[in-house]
Amino acid sequence: MSDTKRYPVPAAFRQRALMDAEMYQRWYQQSINDPATFWGDRAQELLQWRSPWQSVCDWDFSTGDARWFDGATLNVAENCIDRHLAQRGDKAAIIWEGDDPAESKTITYRQLHDEVGRLANLLRARGIGKGDRVCIYMPMIPEAAYAMLACARIGAVHSVVFGGFSPEALKDRIQNAEACALITADEGVRGGRKVPLKANADRALSQCPSVHSCIVVQRTGGQVAWQDGRDFWYHEQVPQQPVDCPAESMDAEDPLFILYTSGSTGKPKGVLHTTAGYLLGASLTHRYVFDCQDDDVYWCTADVGWVTGHSYIVYGPLANGATTVMFEGVPTYPDASRVWQVVDKHQVTIFYTAPTAIRALMGAGDQFVTGTSRASLRLLGSVGEPINPEAWEWYYRVVGEQRCPIVDTWWQTENGSILIAPIPGAVDTKPGSATLPLFGVVPAIVDDQGKELEGAVSGNLVIKQSWPSQIRSIYGDHQRMYDTYFSTYPGTYFTGDGARRDEDGYYWITGRVDDVLNISGHRMGTAEVESALVLHPKVAEAAVVGYPHDVKGQGIYAFVDLMDGEQPSQALIDELKALVTKEIGAIARPDQLQFAPSLPKTRSGKIMRRILRKIANNEIDTLGDTSTLADPSVVDVLIAARLNT
Ligand code: WT7
Repeated sequence: MSDTKRYPVPAAFRQRALMDAEMYQRWYQQSINDPATFWGDRAQELLQWRSPWQSVCDWDFSTGDARWFDGATLNVAENCIDRHLAQRGDKAAIIWEGDDPAESKTITYRQLHDEVGRLANLLRARGIGKGDRVCIYMPMIPEAAYAMLACARIGAVHSVVFGGFSPEALKDRIQNAEACALITADEGVRGGRKVPLKANADRALSQCPSVHSCIVVQRTGGQVAWQDGRDFWYHEQVPQQPVDCPAESMDAEDPLFILYTSGSTGKPKGVLHTTAGYLLGASLTHRYVFDCQDDDVYWCTADVGWVTGHSYIVYGPLANGATTVMFEGVPTYPDASRVWQVVDKHQVTIFYTAPTAIRALMGAGDQFVTGTSRASLRLLGSVGEPINPEAWEWYYRVVGEQRCPIVDTWWQTENGSILIAPIPGAVDTKPGSATLPLFGVVPAIVDDQGKELEGAVSGNLVIKQSWPSQIRSIYGDHQRMYDTYFSTYPGTYFTGDGARRDEDGYYWITGRVDDVLNISGHRMGTAEVESALVLHPKVAEAAVVGYPHDVKGQGIYAFVDLMDGEQPSQALIDELKALVTKEIGAIARPDQLQFAPSLPKTRSGKIMRRILRKIANNEIDTLGDTSTLADPSVVDVLIAARLNT
């Protein structure tokens, strides 16, 4: 597609950018040809070490194992807080914007130091230390960041669970990690509505004997149940603790956090990230992809429950001594001008959000944008799913007024930090393309047999060399890391994504090629939704596929086969959707639910999702070969009853 639009770096942006095209090329080449020197230099520049490493990197993609900066010691909280105090003690570390536009506050690096130190001391006082797992189930309030950093300070491994997940999902994650403590809040507030976090936590904890301490932040003052001896109010305990908390010396390869993410089969997996490589990846990419400089006010709208929140609200920006905005609410509350109001209020210069939010705001109408100034903005970012060129153009023209480069950043929970994105002062952009690989990243496109394809082609996206923030393990099941990412195309990391490379070498991510859905930038396994549906006694079998959705990117389409003698009804549809919400959370709730007298299966009994996908996508004309089905007539019945998507 040589007719694709190409936008050069705006001249005014280039003038003050950290990196130009020559530097990007030079760094990229060195990062590939001599990774040890490249990463050793970056590690010295960007991080503070307690003791040096013996070797920069040591990896083997035939197993997937990797070690970075082996032998070195450091502490992540010290890197994100203490080392900035001398120069930036009074600088805003976090600007918190509440759900209610009347509420906001600024936390300086010095205040952050004290808050984190006190909480870390409380955790230690509860007997929590290096290697213990602590679950964090929080709304978007500064205490969520304090909790993560307090864990890092004492060497405890955090597992943040998104506040929108159900008690059931929370329980699974606490049990899998055998967490000994939970940090939560009485209630969260989003879009004017309350989220019963403590009540959810109580339901989860009733089945989690490993948790001896539950620390509860008072956010709303709403009524909550209490279990003496287990539950502690944050506001009663934390202020009693001393601010000084000696940071634990951590090995470069000691675990920093576990973050659960969905795969194509079974239960979510606990992606394990370690200390030095992760922090280096997060800080380097935050600095150069966002061109983040000392006077910037940087805002990423993600939730800390996702990896984007970990790397680009907390660890990357704070490691760089930047000012990071943390937003409790939603982009459309009180109305669709909210994010631009916040940009003006806090003079945000760098703004990073997801295509689903961009499309929702675009749909609300330009007047919500143009009624605000946005003069402070100089860079815009996108993450989480492919951004369609229409939304890209709108973001570029209406929001950024053609002044702000757009960085479309491709990466995954398993990657720890951005892998493919334009360096904004260096790389021309094309709407819909994540453009070129970052330092140390060697992407390749392979066919279904694993043969590497050269030139302008489409296929499966793999990565051929290790990068510092790559996944180290799946918690409690190391073999599963190899099976999931390193066994499909031996010798490479398989992303699960399809991609096209154009004649300029630019990458265009086309979406998942496995049974993973991307709903509003949230990853969801079809198998998880199906498992929830079949819990219902009236359901015999269920098959879930994605279909294109104007705002969410993908919607969830469920085909449900009922037990013999059970009758379809609207009430049952509602019940089934509610069941999925209860089991997983509202993000997994099916958009469409069609009853199917039976599902299309091969003679060996395998459901043919390809056909269901075509039906849900309304691509009836290109169903393909159905002759291998045990009963091809099933397809006509499903087509006749298909729901309008
Ligand atoms: C999947 C990873 C770490 C980012 C937040 C989501 C999709 C992510 C892009 C992008 C096209 C993207 C991929 C990927 N994805 N960013 N810029 N363009 N697709 O992290 O939950 O681990 O999901 O999100 O399909 O595999 P995640």
